[in-house]
Amino acid sequence: MREGMVMSVVCRPALKEDVEALYELIQGYAAQGIMLPRSREALTRNIDTFIVALDGERLIGCGSLCRLGSDLVEIRSLGIADGYKGQGVGSKLVDALIAEAKLQGIPKVMALTYEAAFFQKNGFRIVDKEIFPEKVWTDCVNCPKQECCDEIAVVRIIEPAEKNEEISFAQM
Ligand SMILES: CC(C)(COP(=O)(O)OP(=O)(O)OC[C@H]1O[C@@H](n2cnc3c(N)ncnc32)[C@H](O)[C@@H]1OP(=O)(O)O)[C@@H](O)C(=O)NCCC(=O)NCCS
Repeated sequence: MREGMVMSVVCRPALKEDVEALYELIQGYAAQGIMLPRSREALTRNIDTFIVALDGERLIGCGSLCRLGSDLVEIRSLGIADGYKGQGVGSKLVDALIAEAKLQGIPKVMALTYEAAFFQKNGFRIVDKEIFPEKVWTDCVNCPKQECCDEIAVVRIIEPAEKNEEISFAQM
């Protein structure tokens, strides 16, 4: 465990009761242009794709897994509340999301992010966006930056090593 990490933080699957706090957290980042907004309806509909981090009763972080195909999921809506960053909570959520992907038997986990260094610390590699299938971009129709996307694609393979060759990495 990292020095200074909030000891009491736990991660668990999100519940319908978490929707309002999830909405507030995501909306805060959406307003800054670093996350796509999610409506309360969309959050309610997709609540089972979210994992939340809690400090006691307080929701202090979230992340979701969006299935993009039989072997690929995307981490979306990963955010930590102000005051809790840099204490290992983001990594804990990524660990929980990776564990969930593993449980579902999905070998590739990707993200589009402005925080590539954080993902690299968590075992991801920077790759060319173009290696992912077109369906990855379904969410991009809702993004104001779709014509000038400046996010970085990262991926982590969670299958046994011998299968790692199946993806063609184009290191940036
Ligand atoms: C990016 C974010 C999720 C990271 O969560 P966090 O809880 O602050 O990160 P952690 O404390 O788990 O950091 C893990 C490691 O990554 C490093 N790290 C975290 N953010 C970093 C950054 N912006 N740049 C470089 N390194 C970073 C930490 O220093 C730490 O390194 P260490 O293992 O050597 O100590 C969080 O800062 C956040 O919510 N940002 C705003 C929303 C956002 O951009 N989300 C990403 C969308 S894909």
